[in-house]
Amino acid sequence: AQTLGALGLRHGLQIGTAVSADALNDTADPEYRKIAASEFVSVTAENAMKWESLEPTRGSYDWEAADQLVNFAKRNRQSVRGHVLVWHNQLPQWLTEGVADGSISKQELRELLRKHITTVVKRYKGKIWQWDVVNEAVSDPWDTPPTLHYKGFWAENLGPGYIADAFRWARAADPRALLFYNDYNIEAFGSGNPADDKTQFVYDMVKRLRAQGVPIDGVGAQGHLGTQYGNFNTFQVTEALKKFTSLGVATAFTEVDVRSQMTEAVQAGNSEEINPRLQASAANHSVLMKACLLVRSCLSYTVWGFSDKHSWVPGWFDDPPEGLATIMDENYQPKLAYHEIKSDL
Ligand code: XIL
Repeated sequence: AQTLGALGLRHGLQIGTAVSADALNDTADPEYRKIAASEFVSVTAENAMKWESLEPTRGSYDWEAADQLVNFAKRNRQSVRGHVLVWHNQLPQWLTEGVADGSISKQELRELLRKHITTVVKRYKGKIWQWDVVNEAVSDPWDTPPTLHYKGFWAENLGPGYIADAFRWARAADPRALLFYNDYNIEAFGSGNPADDKTQFVYDMVKRLRAQGVPIDGVGAQGHLGTQYGNFNTFQVTEALKKFTSLGVATAFTEVDVRSQMTEAVQAGNSEEINPRLQASAANHSVLMKACLLVRSCLSYTVWGFSDKHSWVPGWFDDPPEGLATIMDENYQPKLAYHEIKSDL
């Protein structure tokens, strides 16, 4: 049988997965490595390239896990999506604490960011297909204040100008990598969902940046969806992709998974509870995949992990508990979503 990766390539689309360093190194779990290597043509480091992983102590970089992933990709002839250069989460403690206690000034912070981006991008120069340069810089319509704005550590400390700076520094360090802005709740437009406003905000932002000559090549929509939410349809998702495309940038789905609430009945294995979730998950994947196939600028479709054995969802969404988010179960058996994606290709 053809792999997802091979089927995607027939459409010029790269199908990839996030890879967990822990799972990759688990000698008791060879199946994980086998599937990560064979089923996908692109990989993303789930955590290994985040700042807290790379520079846990100020001034000393630990490249082990990130290098391992890049070497894994090379051995398996896979492309790498670099994730992530600038984000407000998973920053090293020395950095956030230094800023909080005033020992790192704003000026020094900007310089630290420049150095970080330059160091990381240069190390992997020529080896990264797409970099997520800036991640999740924009608030959600239900945040306080409700007016959409630039949120988080970087905007608060440096002002929104850090976004343009980050893209320029990344371009200078590796002129050939495709530089992406990446975010969630920008998967659709015209759905009537309040997230429409976020899609519009990101569109306006990218338009402004491009007009200023900022080197931004792509917009990534993460695609963390849930079966308990209102679903999008293919039209609404192509509308969002086409909006971004009209600015002259590429698009991609970068972190797709579709989580479900793990009620007691689900946890007890009640198929009347589980099957609708599996169906809805498959339907959501299919909508994103169909849209990606319909819009030529959509370069890649990356799932955020491929098995429920190694998914961030149960650890992150635990009240109420959520799970069942990936395309294979805990025993690496393909779920309906896997088959549905294949039938779309
Ligand atoms: C998640 C990882 O999957 C977890 O292992 C980690 O504990 C937290 O971060 N958006 C992103 C990703 O851009 O980097 C996040 O990854 C999931 C949400």
